[in-house]
Amino acid sequence: MVEHSYTTYFAEIYDDVMKNVPYQYWSRYLKDLLKYYKHQPESVLELASGTSNMTFKLIELQFINRITALDLSSAMLAKAAEKLETKIKNSQDFNYFFTEENEMSYQLEQGKRQLSINFKALNMTDFSFENKFDLVVSFFDSLNYLTDIDQLKNCFESAADSLTKDGLFIFDMNSIGRIKTIEEKSFVIEGDSYECFWEDLVKSKENLWQVKLKICPDNDQLPCFEETHSERGYKIETILRLLKNSGFKTVDVYNAFSFAKGKNNSDRLYFAAAKNEGRLQNNQGKLKKIYYGAKNRIDYFLVSLKYLF
Ligand SMILES: C[S@@+](CC[C@H](N)C(=O)[O-])C[C@H]1O[C@@H](n2cnc3c(N)ncnc32)[C@H](O)[C@@H]1O
Repeated sequence: MVEHSYTTYFAEIYDDVMKNVPYQYWSRYLKDLLKYYKHQPESVLELASGTSNMTFKLIELQFINRITALDLSSAMLAKAAEKLETKIKNSQDFNYFFTEENEMSYQLEQGKRQLSINFKALNMTDFSFENKFDLVVSFFDSLNYLTDIDQLKNCFESAADSLTKDGLFIFDMNSIGRIKTIEEKSFVIEGDSYECFWEDLVKSKENLWQVKLKICPDNDQLPCFEETHSERGYKIETILRLLKNSGFKTVDVYNAFSFAKGKNNSDRLYFAAAKNEGRLQNNQGKLKKIYYGAKNRIDYFLVSLKYLF
């Protein structure tokens, strides 16, 4: 059954609902992973980019000159494009022009830097691009939305096909352990112009977590909207097998925001995968790992403080 999620109304309030998500910290972790693997990508493909909260962090990386942000929901992409246009208008840094009419495609100039940003309404189970990317990323457990194992396999195959020879595929996922043990609960998020009734349901045997949302605008004249989000948890071994079968020769799995090995009962996992067999190993070293591990712990502590007060 196809369930609709990320409809126009949810896209409108998504950033408000997610206002406590530490995107800044996620971006610091990504930067550390890139440094760790000595990777300076010029082109990036972001899968399930949503309203582009992480795309904006990618834009800050000066060595990137081409970003494609892909999402199934046109409503989420429209919101992302609206945010980008506002940012460009209010920023002294960028000059911009549209490249093609009716395409969500932007060419920006920032000093000597030329940057193109393209939003694409596509399914992450089936995409291909003529120009390959040095980095493919996905954040915020978006790949768990692929609740059928064949969808995950197709996504990995498309990602492998979209990467340059030495490129990296970095993504996060909720672990199977987390999905199975999420506490079933309901609560209400009170926004300025809406109420969002949130209900968590867990089908532990199916490794499935569902969130039922009912969003009611404060305006009595407007109807409430309902949508269901479904995420499936997969064992690390399954994900590794699918990645390997899709052409990734080497994969590192981390307990998120650390450089410690990820486990099936870690909360969130980060995967770094490469088609070039030596690509990940060449840059590893125990001391380097300890340094980045410690740095991320301190970052995490500082970020937690920010959310406490
Ligand atoms: C939890 S949101 C994360 C959005 C964004 N990555 C962020 O960090 O805010 C999940 C996103 O996955 C997208 N999505 C779900 N299934 C998808 C699919 N099959 N193909 C592409 N995008 C999909 C949704 O539209 C939504 O924008």
